[in-house]
Amino acid sequence: MTAENLDNDLASVAAVIVLAAGSGKRMKSSKSKLLHEVCGKTLLHYAVSAGAALDPAHLVVVVGQFREQVTEHLGQLSTSVTTALQDEQLGTGHAVSCGLEDLGDVSGEVVVTYGDVPLLTGDTLRRLVAVHRAHANGVTVLTAHVNDPTGYGRIVREGDKVVGIVEHRDASEEQRRINEINSGIYVFDAETLRSGLAQLGTDNAQGEQHLTDVVHLAHTRGDKVGAVVTDDVWQTEGVNDRVQLARINAEMNRRILDAWMLAGVTIINPASTFIDVDVDLAQDVVLMPGTILQGATTIGQGAIIGPDTSLIDVEVGANAEVVRTHGSFAIIEEGAQVGPFSYLRPGTQLGRDGKIGAFVETKNAVIGEGSKLPHLAYCGDAFVDDGVNIGAGTIFANYDGVNKSVTHVGKGAFVGSNSVLVAPVDIAAGGFVAAGSAVTEDVPAGGLAIARGRQHTAKGWVTRRRPGSKAAQAAEAHDGSIHPAVVESRSQQKG
Ligand code: UD1
Ligand code: CA
Repeated sequence: MTAENLDNDLASVAAVIVLAAGSGKRMKSSKSKLLHEVCGKTLLHYAVSAGAALDPAHLVVVVGQFREQVTEHLGQLSTSVTTALQDEQLGTGHAVSCGLEDLGDVSGEVVVTYGDVPLLTGDTLRRLVAVHRAHANGVTVLTAHVNDPTGYGRIVREGDKVVGIVEHRDASEEQRRINEINSGIYVFDAETLRSGLAQLGTDNAQGEQHLTDVVHLAHTRGDKVGAVVTDDVWQTEGVNDRVQLARINAEMNRRILDAWMLAGVTIINPASTFIDVDVDLAQDVVLMPGTILQGATTIGQGAIIGPDTSLIDVEVGANAEVVRTHGSFAIIEEGAQVGPFSYLRPGTQLGRDGKIGAFVETKNAVIGEGSKLPHLAYCGDAFVDDGVNIGAGTIFANYDGVNKSVTHVGKGAFVGSNSVLVAPVDIAAGGFVAAGSAVTEDVPAGGLAIARGRQHTAKGWVTRRRPGSKAAQAAEAHDGSIHPAVVESRSQQKG
């Protein structure tokens, strides 16, 4: 068995300690750096899930600055994570000592990671642990070769052997030329770690207790020190400011898009497509340019989304089409059509083969199979049954300034254009509403409601009241006929 393919179930470790006490000053933020998000999840979320992949007996996050925010967020992320307090940030070595405090005389492997390295994966940590075990190391550190190592700790080797880590500020000219850097991610044997931490001094440029010194101490006491060099440098990159946050977000997004494309999703323009980490897409989904899929959005097989569409926690069924739409907490069932320019607010549910068209806003609206709101409507607090047609410009008046009320439109009903349905009101199955109505009373099944003023036409009004005008001249030149297209259309009307 090679180190790299040890079984996953051998990965369980004694403890993972996530260092997260620093202030993140360079974010210039009123919230903890660790609560900033990459592809829809906080930096802390990634740190906790990578650590959890090792199935540790203890997963400890060392908190300090913004501790209330961080602790509260951890409570939402996981119930099995504990926190340890580092009151003053006296260095990474001191932080690990704080993390160990509540673990008693823990033995076995202790993994140390950072809270702000979101591209690090559980697989990489498993590989690190596997190498650590296969070589019976006292310490194994994750390293990378980089073009510009400025600022990082450098891996000092004698021949092949790692003998220590020197911080940039403490390094000689010659050491600064080393381009193998310390990621800050390690597996320690608990005993090696405790012994090293007990000997840490602060005789360095920063006057801090450096965890990195434990590596040299382990080497001098005869413990084996190993390194895993990753060729995926992104997995070692931390977020210190918002420029790095954006760079890492772009890289995470690129990885998510690549994975979906390889799984059978067509993405027309990856440069303008953004997909959160928890989104789920079926085969043969097509994402047009300008598509942003957030939260727990799911898209069914063959559906076409975009262009210019953002969906947050929206469920889209197979073969649906959603064009230039903003939607949140909504369900769009199989074969339905949405957009362009639709606004689906929370509680919208559009049935199979239904349609929500241009300039339509919906909220708390359950719309049945095959029902259509094709143009310019507001539909809120509504139950619209199957096979309903809602005319252009229909408003569901759900708010009287004090209360929200409900409207029901029964199966097969027809609401004429530019109607107002004043809730609470019920239009029973097969009911009709004449165009331009303000409906305030229930419409019985199969009834027709006309709730508007009658048309009054004053013949010759223009000639009398606007003599000599363009309109008057046109009227006088007219032969009295009705436009043939209207005549034709009228002759085709049934009933
Ligand atoms: C550290 C390493 C360096 C490595 C680099 C990789 C040390 C001394 N140096 O440097 O070798 O190349 O990471 O990014 O370890 N933290 C605490 N408490 C503290 C100090 C730090 O919790 O008292 C946390 C920070 O919040 C951060 C992490 O530890 O998440 C790293 O601290 P930071 O100050 O960024 O270390 P670097 O100087 O970057
Ligand atoms: Ca750092």
